[in-house]
Amino acid sequence: MNMISSLSQYQDEYKESVENPEKFWKKYSQKFLWKKNPSQILEWNFDEPKVKWFSDGKLNITENIFERNFNLKSNTAIIWEPNDINEKSISFTYNQLFKRVCSFANVLKKLGVAKGDRVIIYLPMIPEAAISMLACARIGAVHSVVFAGFSASSLSDRIDDCNAKIVITSDGNYRGDKIISVKNVVDSAVEKSDSITNVLVINRISMDVTMVEGRDVWLHEIEKSVDDVCNAEPMSSEDMLFILYTSGSTGKPKGVVHTCGGYMIFSQYTFENVFQYKDGDTYWCTADVGWITGHSYIVYGPLLRGAKTVMFEGVPTYPDPSRFWKIIDKHSVNQFYTAPTAIRALQSYGDKYLEGASLNTLKVIGSVGEPINEEAWNWYFINVGKRKCPIVDTWWQTETGGIMISPLPNIIDSKPTYATLPLPGVQPILFDNDGNEVIENNIEGNLCIKFPWPSIVRTIYGDHKRCKETYFSTFKGYYFTGDGAKRDDDGNYRILGRVDDVINVSGHRIGTAEVEDAINQDSSVIESAVVGYPHSIKGQGIFAFVIVNSNSDNVNYFDQIRKTVTHHIGPIAKPDKILVVPGLPKTRSGKIMRRILRKIASNEFQNFGDISTLLNPEIVDIIVKKVKNL
Ligand code: WT7
Repeated sequence: MNMISSLSQYQDEYKESVENPEKFWKKYSQKFLWKKNPSQILEWNFDEPKVKWFSDGKLNITENIFERNFNLKSNTAIIWEPNDINEKSISFTYNQLFKRVCSFANVLKKLGVAKGDRVIIYLPMIPEAAISMLACARIGAVHSVVFAGFSASSLSDRIDDCNAKIVITSDGNYRGDKIISVKNVVDSAVEKSDSITNVLVINRISMDVTMVEGRDVWLHEIEKSVDDVCNAEPMSSEDMLFILYTSGSTGKPKGVVHTCGGYMIFSQYTFENVFQYKDGDTYWCTADVGWITGHSYIVYGPLLRGAKTVMFEGVPTYPDPSRFWKIIDKHSVNQFYTAPTAIRALQSYGDKYLEGASLNTLKVIGSVGEPINEEAWNWYFINVGKRKCPIVDTWWQTETGGIMISPLPNIIDSKPTYATLPLPGVQPILFDNDGNEVIENNIEGNLCIKFPWPSIVRTIYGDHKRCKETYFSTFKGYYFTGDGAKRDDDGNYRILGRVDDVINVSGHRIGTAEVEDAINQDSSVIESAVVGYPHSIKGQGIFAFVIVNSNSDNVNYFDQIRKTVTHHIGPIAKPDKILVVPGLPKTRSGKIMRRILRKIASNEFQNFGDISTLLNPEIVDIIVKKVKNL
């Protein structure tokens, strides 16, 4: 099946994918190298839920990256751009990468890691982040990458939840003008763990670290004792490929499980079509591998396609806000994929940082992670895309594994703030809050998906019930995304943001309950309520209303609570605003009425709706007065 290259081809493929999904995906699956060809294409129900794609097929995803692309062995696979402009970038050909992956895989074996074991990867954006993921996949170990900005206690929760056997980390790393002690975080996270047998350490910056005898191993030392040949482990299509933790509206983060076959198929299909990647192009996604975007569109999608993918260690503003544009010119990037929050931040520094940049190699520019406002869209289109590059505003989620709704550049027209049309295989549907389908256009509804696509979440690690409750119970028989959306008369979808208690801060999904739990661990706090509010750069900011105990006078709550949250979760979850209040609006059953707090936090001081069920309606006015004085 060739890449989609015209509107009629898109329409034909879309139609085929809905009318005959099994035939459609079977045909595409024939591009891949199977150790055993699948004959069972799809079994599913959204009640248990159970979804199996290509279930009797056997494969290894890394064989589809390396052996299948053998003719590309001297092509560049990864270009790594370091944080510091004076440090040289490093390129890996497919063959070089293959050898590194195989020797890394042999190191894992030597440490006793076997098929099915869970491996935590806690690394900065260095090539070994991709290499270690692929090494796990090579031997059938399940990787779980944890964003290296998370705190020791978040890391330790994830280690415990999946009973990981080893952690892969680095001594430290450079990030902008900072030096980060990565290994220290791992040390405190692993201290109490019963499951971790080894910590494998990569020397990135030659900083002093404590190596625990019998547990900690330097990669460069152990790598000397292994060779660079490693056969690919045969995996069933539905064997686990990875777990990736993501926040929800309640409780601790959930371990979203993706499996080998379906994820492989959908990540390549969506990558090549959405970015219209052509042989020889250079593609760059600025995400971190700690998030799903890094998994699907830095590592798996591009490498399966045999593409040249750029990996960047640093931040957009270091040494100054022209860094992204300099990297695009330096490596002649053709497809560029970033987040609205980065676009807005760079826009805020003014256009002067773009003046020296040519950007003339760009063909497609993408956006992901949160709704992109019209102003940022236009700035991106005019100043970065020079009015000639279509913007692909790609809507998807950790749970979807790959892009679901997006324009196809030069095929499906972009429309500011709209993710536009579903990709083949994706069947969106909108429901109102009573569970009736929203048939009319231009009306907001809850975005659901009717039919399984190959990389739909299979389960929540260790908690299938939670998978059912979170995604398959609100609208029975449908996958519920948690997003609100509306559709225009041409069928284009506009994503309006989360409808649950999840905040999207700079494209990072943060559960309000998780932040409240962290705040409540502060000794001066009795109770808290956290909501999101519009933030000009981050999309949403975090607003915390807190009740403190009377004996904690003279405390700088702002600094102290932010420190507590950083300690328990990480700096990305720090509240932007903290307000001490004497009470919180509660229903008679004791539930906090968040909808009122959301309004107040957004500076809307009227139309609170029915507050007659409140136990303490007088508190609303008190809080409003306090916010007005903030
Ligand atoms: C949530 C998923 C998808 C990878 C990065 C985030 C929001 C994502 C868009 C978009 C509007 C978007 C949604 C979604 N979101 N892309 N193009 N327009 N909103 O993955 O952490 O799983 O978050 O991000 O609210 O549910 P994630």
